[in-house]
Amino acid sequence: MGLILVSNRGPVSYRRGDSGELETVRGGGGLVTALLGVAASRPVTWIASAMTPEDTEVWRRAAGGSIALEHDEYRLSLRFINAGAQAYERYYNVIANPLIWFIQHYLWGLAVAPEIGEREISAWDEGYVAVNRLFADAVCRELEDGNGEGGRPLVMLHDYHLYLCPALVRERHPQVFLHQFIHIPWPQPDSWLVLPRRMRQAIMNGALANDIIAFHTGKYVRNFLLSCEELPGVEVDQERGVVMTGGREVWVRAYPVSIDGDDFDRLAGSAAVLEEEGKIKAARRGQLILRVDRMDLSKNIVRGFKAYDIFLEKHPEFRERVTFLALMQPSREDIREYGEYRRRIAEVVEAVNNRHGTADWRPIDLRMQDDFPCSVAAYKQFDALLVNAIFDGMNLIAKEAGLVNTRDGVLILSENTGVHEELGEFALTVNPFDLEDQARAIHQALTMDDDAKRRRAGKIKQVVRKNDINRWIERQFDDIKLKGGGES
Ligand code: G6P
Repeated sequence: MGLILVSNRGPVSYRRGDSGELETVRGGGGLVTALLGVAASRPVTWIASAMTPEDTEVWRRAAGGSIALEHDEYRLSLRFINAGAQAYERYYNVIANPLIWFIQHYLWGLAVAPEIGEREISAWDEGYVAVNRLFADAVCRELEDGNGEGGRPLVMLHDYHLYLCPALVRERHPQVFLHQFIHIPWPQPDSWLVLPRRMRQAIMNGALANDIIAFHTGKYVRNFLLSCEELPGVEVDQERGVVMTGGREVWVRAYPVSIDGDDFDRLAGSAAVLEEEGKIKAARRGQLILRVDRMDLSKNIVRGFKAYDIFLEKHPEFRERVTFLALMQPSREDIREYGEYRRRIAEVVEAVNNRHGTADWRPIDLRMQDDFPCSVAAYKQFDALLVNAIFDGMNLIAKEAGLVNTRDGVLILSENTGVHEELGEFALTVNPFDLEDQARAIHQALTMDDDAKRRRAGKIKQVVRKNDINRWIERQFDDIKLKGGGES
């Protein structure tokens, strides 16, 4: 039976090559790899937003229909939806990020923000609702074109951009099996009170149109069930993780996402990574603290540098013997809050480097870049990895870097990351708001004895290799089958 995947960001995007021809660029990250793996064994249609001008060109050429992607390992049919610049801006830059993203990561400082005014209300109606409708229309067209022939059609949706889509599809296709994975935290119910009632209701109504709704951790599952308990006419069985609504059962489940260990091993040994690793080794002076993040407010980048500042102040013996390498990928730059955050990062880095730096030593080496081979090279070389996110759905950096590190590096890990449920035991746990705690953890990581480091690093590798991406996929398909969907 065919499978329909739906996500805002697709598996590939188009750009113009040197010769002027359109070429595909594969989306980075383990999720795309894992889901493309699914496409090796069954026909898959992937529905995603056209995000570049070239995507829009491809969408136009295909007259809104699907595009066949042929590859050695998979065959995929890609269908873009094209919302147009204004609707997309409202959906993505006003509602999904920041409004919903900030709620789910507890990022609003409620004394001053957000303000729900005319801009937000029209962005909801003409952006978020409208784009979700376009996604739902595309899913329905796919279902009506017979993609689901030969069984109960299965649609797997991803993330918070698409909360309304399941209900819109369910209305027209009551029999379809709908599965949605939320990759970010589900906060405690009161956090949602930031939104006007009709928006909150639409989100819950959409989410509960799924057959299974999935998260990375047990905590998000519990929070989601608590949100459901507040709804009229809905029954919640906390123990079984089941919500009864409108005569249907919705399963709420946790499946911690992971990475493909073998794939990462191969990558770590690739020529591109070895070249970057050579540069890092040559520039190295003493120990290396590393962070690798999308430049997002939830990642807590500024506090991380402040903690490092305190560490250098308290432990001057480390001056000139440690470098903090920060690899930051620019992200969501059209959103005001992100632009301001970028400026604050640059300021704090300058302040720390001016305060402690010397003629030939820069305490922080900040690189704003999107260079995966360089990140993997740095993963191999760190002595301490700082993952101090305010809140983070999972944080795959901790898993990726832990797996390929060659120096028994120590993981400093925020207790508010999803990955803390799996790796917290082998990391130095920190409170992301407590600068002193983080400064102390940096010192502890850099002075830990070799045996303790080896033991912890070994355990992290073991856990990541065992709970790998295949397990993540298999567990979801097992549950889908158990609930009566997805038989081939
Ligand atoms: C998070 C979200 C994803 C999103 C990614 C990158 O991991 O869960 O849905 O794709 O961030 O964000 P972007 O806005 O660039 O797609």
